[in-house]
Amino acid sequence: MAQVCRLGLLLVLLLPAVGASMPGTVIRLNKAMLSYVSRAGKDPLQQALQVPVPYFLEQRGEGLQPTRIQILDVHVPRLYLNFIDGLGVRLRAAANFTVKVFRAPEPLELVLPVVLLADAPVTQGSIGTPVVSISACLLLFNKAIVFDDTHSTPPELLVLVQQHIRAVLRNKACLSISNLVQGLNVHLGTLIGLKPLGPESQIRYFMINAPNITKDYISLDVNAVLFLLSKPIPMPVNATRFTLPEHVGTSGAMVTLGLSQDVFDSALLLLQKAGTLNLDVTGQLKSKDNLLNTSMLGQHIPEVALQFPEPMPVVLKARLRSTPEVMIHTNNATLQLQPYIEVLAVASNSAFQSLFSINVTVNLSLQLSVSRVKLQGTTSVLGDIQLTVASSNVGSIEMPKLRALINIVFKKPLLNHLNALLRVGVTLPNVVNLNYVTPEVFIHEGYVVVSSELSYQS
Ligand SMILES: *[C@@H]1O[C@H](CO)[C@@H](O)[C@H](O)[C@H]1NC(C)=O
Ligand SMILES: *[C@@H]1O[C@H](CO)[C@@H](O)[C@H](O)[C@H]1NC(C)=O
Ligand SMILES: *[C@@H]1O[C@H](CO)[C@@H](O)[C@H](O)[C@H]1NC(C)=O
Ligand SMILES: *[C@@H]1O[C@H](CO)[C@@H](O)[C@H](O)[C@H]1NC(C)=O
Ligand SMILES: *[C@@H]1O[C@H](CO)[C@@H](O)[C@H](O)[C@H]1NC(C)=O
Ligand SMILES: *[C@@H]1O[C@H](CO)[C@@H](O)[C@H](O)[C@H]1NC(C)=O
Ligand SMILES: *[C@@H]1O[C@H](CO)[C@@H](O)[C@H](O)[C@H]1NC(C)=O
Repeated sequence: MAQVCRLGLLLVLLLPAVGASMPGTVIRLNKAMLSYVSRAGKDPLQQALQVPVPYFLEQRGEGLQPTRIQILDVHVPRLYLNFIDGLGVRLRAAANFTVKVFRAPEPLELVLPVVLLADAPVTQGSIGTPVVSISACLLLFNKAIVFDDTHSTPPELLVLVQQHIRAVLRNKACLSISNLVQGLNVHLGTLIGLKPLGPESQIRYFMINAPNITKDYISLDVNAVLFLLSKPIPMPVNATRFTLPEHVGTSGAMVTLGLSQDVFDSALLLLQKAGTLNLDVTGQLKSKDNLLNTSMLGQHIPEVALQFPEPMPVVLKARLRSTPEVMIHTNNATLQLQPYIEVLAVASNSAFQSLFSINVTVNLSLQLSVSRVKLQGTTSVLGDIQLTVASSNVGSIEMPKLRALINIVFKKPLLNHLNALLRVGVTLPNVVNLNYVTPEVFIHEGYVVVSSELSYQS
């Protein structure tokens, strides 16, 4: 536990250092998200407003007579949330408090209609989390409606009882709303939690400046730090701040996410550094679907047949020497990989013998999709794979034959490998228990937009 805490502290300390150079993401929360929160927030608000009421002290005869008062029910039929330009969110709610006054001889029940108004500024917390607070909170009371008053309570007393309840609510209701918001902040704070990417890598998002709040949305500039084996990966500095144009994505969606080119570059850099893009294709002799052996190569390259009269297993070692490049153009995302492939045969003494090596350039089309909280991809090869022989121990190699060979033995394993990696995906910014629902992905010039509904599952 102590170790986890120390690690957490270390990560927080690292944030400012690596933060300046990190990829840009914009999270834009739209009006539809506020509608969702106002629907989901009614129950918690009703519960929070059910505050205890102290005894009412009634002057009767000589002394003070204590009367028990209880809020039986709080009904919030309407809760409205709106963005306030440059500030945050304004809350308006109409609530009916059903109050029971335990007064002899018969208890009395009354309904107190209240309008609640509160302003909630949204700011950036010191560790990069969004923070909501309550800056102004006001209760407007309407006249109480009295039920079951067969013993007709004296009107002066009713006035005093109401004053008592109003004073209590003025004190406690706003505090309860503040507490509710504190709970929300704990939840929002999980935005900066470490999220797993692959078995040895993680991603962590954090806010980099104050949110931009308009009357239509709240927009958070978020950066990501990628970790490999718990170490942050240093990224190239990009002085250009990514901005998300207005009116992109599905109009009316709860969230619009903008992912800059840098996010993709970083994810690919991580994959390359982790070595996961490297691939070995190994031939096993006498296995049914295996094509990789020296007798097969010998059919295309005569020198191989000469050197290996007996069929021997062949291995392709594909290594990426440069980071793959992703190109994001309107409606068209492509990926370029430049692996260096060494083709080796197992010699009779079981040692590997290099046959030849090639430089490969392959363009792939990249399709993106979102599942739960992950951005996933699938690829397919675009056009011809470009090949150059880098070295050869088997004489000259005819290009059309080499191309045919690579198409047969390399293309499919490469695609399988890449697609398996891209299926793992990149975790998008999120908070605990919140999923992206019916997401749509749009490819714009230089950036990707995800439009989505959100769903909270507690
Ligand atoms: C409060 O209760 C009264 C009486 O039942 C009702 O007429 C009124 O519409 C209610 N107001 C709200 C906001 O629910
Ligand atoms: C907020 O967004 C608006 C609209 O995109 C932009 O004009 C304004 O400069 C932004 N403000 C800040 C502080 O980023
Ligand atoms: C920096 O960001 C801009 C805008 O998002 C992008 O066009 C550019 O390619 C990035 N530069 C580098 C070196 O990543
Ligand atoms: C070598 O590969 C060919 C297919 O190209 C296959 O027909 C043959 O069975 C393989 N030989 C061995 C010994 O695995
Ligand atoms: C996408 O880009 C690739 C390579 O730049 C090109 O071959 C392909 O035709 C483009 N597709 C579309 C739909 O524009
Ligand atoms: C890959 O795409 C780039 C940029 O679109 C293009 O210049 C190059 O010729 C393509 N290479 C192959 C092997 O298709
Ligand atoms: C193969 O690629 C490497 C860089 O990865 C380069 O240094 C070398 O010159 C290339 N060889 C040929 C024949 O293109």
